[in-house]
Amino acid sequence: MNLVLGIETSCDETAAAIVEGGRRIRSNVIASQVATHALYGGVVPEIASREHLDRIGDVVDSALQDASVGLEDVDGIAVTYGPGLVGALLVGLSYAKSLAYACGIPMVGVNHIEGHVYSVVFENDPIEYPALALVVSGGHTSLFLVPGPEEYLLLGRTRDDAAGEAYDKVAKLLGLGYPGGPAIDRLAPTGDPDCAPLVFKVPQMRDGTLDFSFSGLKTAVLRFVKENGVNPVAPACEPAQVVRDICASFQQQAVRVLHARLRSAVRIHAPRTILLAGGVACNSALRAAVDGLGDSTKTRVCKPSPLLTTDNAAMIAAAGYPKLLRGQFSGLGLNADPSLRLGVTSG
Ligand code: KG4
Ligand code: ZN
Repeated sequence: MNLVLGIETSCDETAAAIVEGGRRIRSNVIASQVATHALYGGVVPEIASREHLDRIGDVVDSALQDASVGLEDVDGIAVTYGPGLVGALLVGLSYAKSLAYACGIPMVGVNHIEGHVYSVVFENDPIEYPALALVVSGGHTSLFLVPGPEEYLLLGRTRDDAAGEAYDKVAKLLGLGYPGGPAIDRLAPTGDPDCAPLVFKVPQMRDGTLDFSFSGLKTAVLRFVKENGVNPVAPACEPAQVVRDICASFQQQAVRVLHARLRSAVRIHAPRTILLAGGVACNSALRAAVDGLGDSTKTRVCKPSPLLTTDNAAMIAAAGYPKLLRGQFSGLGLNADPSLRLGVTSG
């Protein structure tokens, strides 16, 4: 087992990649649908499935071409089978199954969240364990203890919105378009958080879990907008200073929520490594905060470069590699699982 073809279609990126030996990216093709969904202010599942269907063939062909290999050189296929949008998942999964069947290539289904965890391996190998993994994206916000490779103990997850979802909803409220994370991250340094104070408390979970919650913060933004008569930014207009201040304040508080939980987990579990992954791991303030936590606790921080934070198939190929290597293949009966979980729950 050497060359793995990864396929990822769980949300709004159609992606395929060739990864060698589980660590070396030979190609990584991502066809983003962001421009299409931006027209609707968020991902429209039916449109996502149709676009995946239109693009999957070309995307896989490009991944093979970029790596200068043919299907006959591929030793295994790793494909996302959950969690995600069911129609979107089914496109990638059906395509992978057809290739596996037609070409006689072993295939394995990969959990998308585990894929994100593996996005760190390309630039940070070898990872030292035990590790803590914070996966923050548009669909998930989860904190895992990772005692060893492929072992996940869920320490906390969001009880309402995912971090990226909160960014996207606040951006929509402010008229900043979709996806909201990059827009808020860009504007935050041009605002003053003290000029738009958001009144809310970092939620303390009475049951002692390290769960997250972003609904209070989102409501605090809504309240500030209403009480101060803030208008959303009109299309093609420069954001007003108050909008920049809200972005600065929201970003500061969102990072505070994530940092608080991660710091508690580092204190309790004293990991050797902190892994930061998922679309929101691209956020400049979060990256700086986690680096700071690593410095102050003398814990190594591993995070992917920005291109690998977003949904991609290289991470799926890397996550599938050890499973394929030990012959853990999925049959053609594998179904998409939109609410697939990762790991066991603590306690
Ligand atoms: O991992 P991802 O590509 O897709 C999911 O699996 O959900 O994450 C997309 C999410 C979106 O919510 C987007 O707004 C957020 O990641 N995001 C960011 C940044 N870049 C992307 N959030 C905050 N700051 C960023 N720089
Ligand atoms: Zn993702």
